Amino acid sequence: MKTSVNIAGVEFKNPVMTGSGTFGSGMEYSEFVDLNRLGAVVTKGVANVPWPGNPTPRVAEVYGGMLNAIGLQNPGIDVFMERDLEFLKQFDTKVIVNVCGKSVEDYIEVVEKLSDSNADMLEINVSCPNVKEGAIAFGQKADALYDITSRIKKVAKQPIIMKLSPNVTDITEMARAAEAAGADALSMINTLTGVKIDIERRKFVLANKTGGMSGPALKPIAVRMVWQCANAVQIPIIGMGGIATAEDAIEFLMAGATAVAVGAMNFINPYTTVEVADGIEKYMERHGIEDINEIIGCVK
Ligand SMILES: Cc1cc2nc3c(=O)[nH]c(=O)nc-3n(C[C@H](O)[C@H](O)[C@H](O)COP(=O)(O)O)c2cc1C
Repeated sequence: MKTSVNIAGVEFKNPVMTGSGTFGSGMEYSEFVDLNRLGAVVTKGVANVPWPGNPTPRVAEVYGGMLNAIGLQNPGIDVFMERDLEFLKQFDTKVIVNVCGKSVEDYIEVVEKLSDSNADMLEINVSCPNVKEGAIAFGQKADALYDITSRIKKVAKQPIIMKLSPNVTDITEMARAAEAAGADALSMINTLTGVKIDIERRKFVLANKTGGMSGPALKPIAVRMVWQCANAVQIPIIGMGGIATAEDAIEFLMAGATAVAVGAMNFINPYTTVEVADGIEKYMERHGIEDINEIIGCVK
């Protein structure tokens, strides 16, 4: 039985990855989860310098998921390379580094520093709704997305994945712009902007007022967007948004995703990624599927 998938020349042992920002760099999770079982670890967004993130409260539970406004807190690329990337070297899994920035120059500085590292691919986060400057601004206008993608592509040594925002009118327009600018792959979806109000205090629950919605309630929207983009572009897609079970992941694969990532569910059940990988194998056995690639994009 073949469970491996190929994205831009990188071979993943199975299609199951971690969603950026929901698994750190795997350090804490490695006490529970055998990282060798994962197709890839996708790290939390990293910038050129340390970012403190947003004031608290910055997470809130909602029906079917959660809101977060972490604001891309991270230790900066230098500490990240010494600590997180070194840690990940001991595992037989691919490493995808999620990159964030406030200006194109910030992104480029991080991408250049990663050139000789053990990162197998770079995921460029142009879709975080929780930081005031940069980030999502690049992911909501097709011409800005084209510009940042082509400039990063010129300097990147690893294949680049552009992570798309669902907070747009037509996600296929963004997918086409990223592809035209030379993106090697796409990942989707990032969180969907939401608000929760504390009616006793008559205040926003999050200090940032708005937050990014993630979790199971997102899944039908995410599957729809993956399916639309898979029909709009030729480059591979990594699908995410509300995956809790192998069955959820298989929906994404059938809609056209070559791989999938598990995000918020890691907080509820830290074993979700491995359970999803095991469940996909069981599904393949049950249905006599020899190669996972047979089901990718099988629903047109
Ligand atoms: C607490 C939290 C932090 C996140 N941080 C990042 C991040 O640093 N970079 C990024 O591209 N996406 C980030 N995301 C988005 C997830 O990677 C994912 O795209 C989204 O949550 C949808 O998947 P899910 O419903 O499985 O969580 C974050 C999500 C959560 C819940």
